[in-house]
Amino acid sequence: METVERRPFYLYSKPQINRNFEAYREALEGLNSIIGYAIKANNNLKILEHLRMLGCGAVLVSGNELRLALKAGFDPKRCIFNGNGKLLEDLVLAAQEGVFINIDSEFDLDNIVSAARIAGKKVNVLLRINPDVDPQVHAYVATGNKNSKFGIRNEKLQWFLDAVKAHPNELKLVGAHCHLGSTITKVDIFRDAAVLMVNYIDQIRDQGFEIDYLNIGGGLGIDYYHAGAVLPTPRDLIDTVRELVLSRDLNLIIEPGRSLIANTCCLVNRVTGVKTNGTKNFIVVDGSMSELIRPSLYGAYQHIELVSPPPPDAEISTFDVVGPVCESADFLGKDRELPTPSRGAGLVVHDAGAYCMSMASTYNLKMRPPEYWVEEDGSVAKIRHGETFEDHIRYFEGL
Ligand code: LLP
Repeated sequence: METVERRPFYLYSKPQINRNFEAYREALEGLNSIIGYAIKANNNLKILEHLRMLGCGAVLVSGNELRLALKAGFDPKRCIFNGNGKLLEDLVLAAQEGVFINIDSEFDLDNIVSAARIAGKKVNVLLRINPDVDPQVHAYVATGNKNSKFGIRNEKLQWFLDAVKAHPNELKLVGAHCHLGSTITKVDIFRDAAVLMVNYIDQIRDQGFEIDYLNIGGGLGIDYYHAGAVLPTPRDLIDTVRELVLSRDLNLIIEPGRSLIANTCCLVNRVTGVKTNGTKNFIVVDGSMSELIRPSLYGAYQHIELVSPPPPDAEISTFDVVGPVCESADFLGKDRELPTPSRGAGLVVHDAGAYCMSMASTYNLKMRPPEYWVEEDGSVAKIRHGETFEDHIRYFEGL
């Protein structure tokens, strides 16, 4: 293995990615299905290629995610383009490639019709219905409530069905989609939504549409707390909707992001020093909200551990684990009981595979970290270079 750079880095486990995928594959046995990996969770090209090789389709929210999915070799016929603000040029690309497109609003339908005309292709569309089921999660990651910006409300269903009927050369309605939210830890919530969704599918079929796909979105939570809680598995999720799907002879699409990739990775940091102000103790590390924003943005808990053995006399105290960024919002964990580390000690933030690197910024010119993974044989390989100061300067060259 080449020497790991002295800066924060992401370290993934390829065998854990395999296990997570396998859990979904086994859970879906006996159903026609597409596991659409939500690329927004983690867009590392090597990881995408691997998930594609295992058998995933892809769930996209931008033209660039679609371009990356194509580069990673995903079959466009197993890709779904979502979003409440899809741009015409991106819709044209999706139409050309034969990707499933979710209709999110009246103007979105208009744009999809235009895209179909420009591409000269009829588009397979799903209606994203907002079922108004409370996912019981942080407000920022709840999407299926009635006041959310996503999807259409059932009161408007007939308008959309008529609009699809009015465009037989551009649109083929193939299914219905919902996505309730993210970090969901009760599968009853998925069941409640699926019951509503198959009723909509019945109504849509009654009008002569031959629709075959039920897309229940993503959103299954994971055990961020590492405190022994028993969380629902992919099997629990699929079992709760299996009979509904079979009873209507539907193809099931699921869109997992977090539950495929979050627990496969740690952000590895180094302790810069320890300090105390007032009644607060701080462990200051080289990683920060720039590399991992979930704690500051959602108050999210991610488990933190020291990886270097602490000095034998290390006192256990309650620390906030913070980075060097000039913001009091810059923390990776609050009130954590940890042995006092020595300078230079390794400190990992767990479950950093989803929505960490993909949401990383270069705030304070902390350049995005490199990524590595542990292969099946235990060797370590770099899967993305760390960004450098020179990369930043390049944007100004030739101006
Ligand atoms: N499908 C749709 C339509 C979505 O909006 C999302 C996530 C997914 C699938 C994948 O959901 P997952 O299985 O990963 O929960 N940044 C937040 C999460 C935002 C999720 C956005 N939508 C976080 O760090 O927790």
